[in-house]
Amino acid sequence: MSNPNNSGAPVTVLGLGAMGRALAGAFLRAGHPTTVWNRTPGKADELVAQGAVRAGTVAEAVTASPLVIVCVLDYAVTRTILEPVAGPLSGRVLVNLTSDTPERSRSAAAWAAGHGIDYLDGSIMVPTPVIGKPDAMILYSGSRPAFEAHEATLKVLGGRALYLGADHGMAAVHDLSLLGFFYSAMAGLVHAFALAGSEGIAAQEFAPYTEAIVGILPAIAAAMAEDLDRGTFSGDENNIVMEAAGIAHIIEAATDRGLDSDVLTAVKNLADRTIAAGHGDAGFVSVIEAMRRPSA
Ligand SMILES: NC(=O)c1ccc[n+]([C@@H]2O[C@H](COP(=O)([O-])OP(=O)(O)OC[C@H]3O[C@@H](n4cnc5c(N)ncnc54)[C@H](OP(=O)(O)O)[C@@H]3O)[C@@H](O)[C@H]2O)c1
Repeated sequence: MSNPNNSGAPVTVLGLGAMGRALAGAFLRAGHPTTVWNRTPGKADELVAQGAVRAGTVAEAVTASPLVIVCVLDYAVTRTILEPVAGPLSGRVLVNLTSDTPERSRSAAAWAAGHGIDYLDGSIMVPTPVIGKPDAMILYSGSRPAFEAHEATLKVLGGRALYLGADHGMAAVHDLSLLGFFYSAMAGLVHAFALAGSEGIAAQEFAPYTEAIVGILPAIAAAMAEDLDRGTFSGDENNIVMEAAGIAHIIEAATDRGLDSDVLTAVKNLADRTIAAGHGDAGFVSVIEAMRRPSA
């Protein structure tokens, strides 16, 4: 069961990059005795001024708290830091908020299990300024007892602390799926600014128009999910042949203006392969078949 009374429970944060500092700062503001460690010790200075305890070694940091959070560059770094302290970590809860692949999450879980460490894997879905806010979403998977015992403390980092099940890879699967969406959307957005800008339209003048696309995304995601779960990709209202023609216009206009159009060319290739496979009357979501068979 979740323990609502663990405000004030000691926590340790390993890794004080931009995100680790935000996590430790949120714990300090919520009154948790917070021990911190970072390879470059100077990054702890501000946190120490706010009341954090700077550990001289990883072992010292780990033994300071029953709950240890690690947030560094990737799992290779996580492993470098944690391997030597597997003994002291035994019997404690380790929450790894570093981003990496689901395979590495599962392999970290197997390593933790082999050392008697109660392991939760997590993915932070918000940037640093949102850490500590009620709407900050952080996804967790792995040890249910660890999540339930420390849920109240984890909610200090983000009010939307969502547990996705016992498979340690689930947080990373959600993370990478959402980040794939994010980065491809970012590339499309930058391309939009570049194309509009090539005609002298200032970015701030153009930005409000992006709402026309951003605003329809939630409805599109819901409709797409319905189609995917049903397995039917109706293109009655907007078929992919029409959409491919539209994408070709963007590529032509961008190329005429000397702009790179690799992102749109990749989208056009997916659409073309879908049409070539005989699905020209289907909706855009039907490109999923081409994605599932990259060599087709
Ligand atoms: N920043 C964000 O907005 C954000 C949002 C969501 C998720 N995340 C995730 O949070 C994690 C940390 O991101 P960040 O923004 O804090 O990154 P960062 O500012 O680049 O910090 C990287 C951290 O990793 C440590 N590190 C790197 N190589 C190391 C090594 N060989 N040995 C020991 N420590 C090493 C760094 O220590 P030094 O200080 O000594 O270099 C630092 O503590 C990443 O997995 C990232 O994907 C970040």
